[in-house]
Amino acid sequence: MKIGILGAATVGLTLATKFAVAGNDVVIANSRGPESLAAAIAEAGSGARAATVAQAVACDVVFLAVPWLKVPDVLTPDIAWDGRVLVDVTNIFESTAPNYRVADLKGDSGSEIVARLAPGAKVVKAFNTLPFKVIFAPTPANLKRVLFVAGDDGEAVSTVSSLIGELGLHPVALGSNAVAGRLMELGGPLSSLELLTPAQGASS
Ligand SMILES: NC(=O)c1ccc[n+]([C@@H]2O[C@H](COP(=O)([O-])OP(=O)(O)OC[C@H]3O[C@@H](n4cnc5c(N)ncnc54)[C@H](OP(=O)(O)O)[C@@H]3O)[C@@H](O)[C@H]2O)c1
Repeated sequence: MKIGILGAATVGLTLATKFAVAGNDVVIANSRGPESLAAAIAEAGSGARAATVAQAVACDVVFLAVPWLKVPDVLTPDIAWDGRVLVDVTNIFESTAPNYRVADLKGDSGSEIVARLAPGAKVVKAFNTLPFKVIFAPTPANLKRVLFVAGDDGEAVSTVSSLIGELGLHPVALGSNAVAGRLMELGGPLSSLELLTPAQGASS
């Protein structure tokens, strides 16, 4: 699978490295250009390649891993999504540590805003409900960590669920962005909820 990643901090670099190790063709972009990423990619030991934002958004599956307030800067109207999958990993923080502040979307939801900024993309919400250090922390033998998935397009949700499975996680698809996406959003009942499930084939 050709995967593009927008954002190269904790989330972007972790996903780039893990998806490349799993055998995918991964490119990763930040706001400052590919040259600025060489050291971070080398340090992560990632098989991913540094790219421009334009190269990353041209991939089959694109992960959005930038700060919430930067989303409109990266999802510019000139991008022709043509049905490609856009995975919204963002959380709707207006500011983070030490002064955490959550954006007031006035009844709207993050993934629906993302979908409106990326018309023609199949938007799937995933990877946002837990800190990355929790998502990829070791689990007890025969247990897998659950990762919630929301989206309006069944095929896109299946594609992202398969990718989640490649990382050793257990995807649970919950429904639409409007309903499930809200449950997963900061302040929603699934935000910060950590669940483990028996790995398939594990005996009880
Ligand atoms: N950290 C976690 O554990 C975690 C867990 C779940 C969800 N999330 C969410 O995932 C997103 C990413 O979080 P993060 O912790 O990895 O770091 P972050 O600080 O939110 O993201 C920084 C990255 O975004 C890039 N960026 C900013 N504007 C850009 C633009 N216009 N075009 C391309 N790249 C741009 C930055 O590139 P430059 O440095 O070049 O500006 C940098 O690589 C956030 O929305 C966060 O809320 C984080």
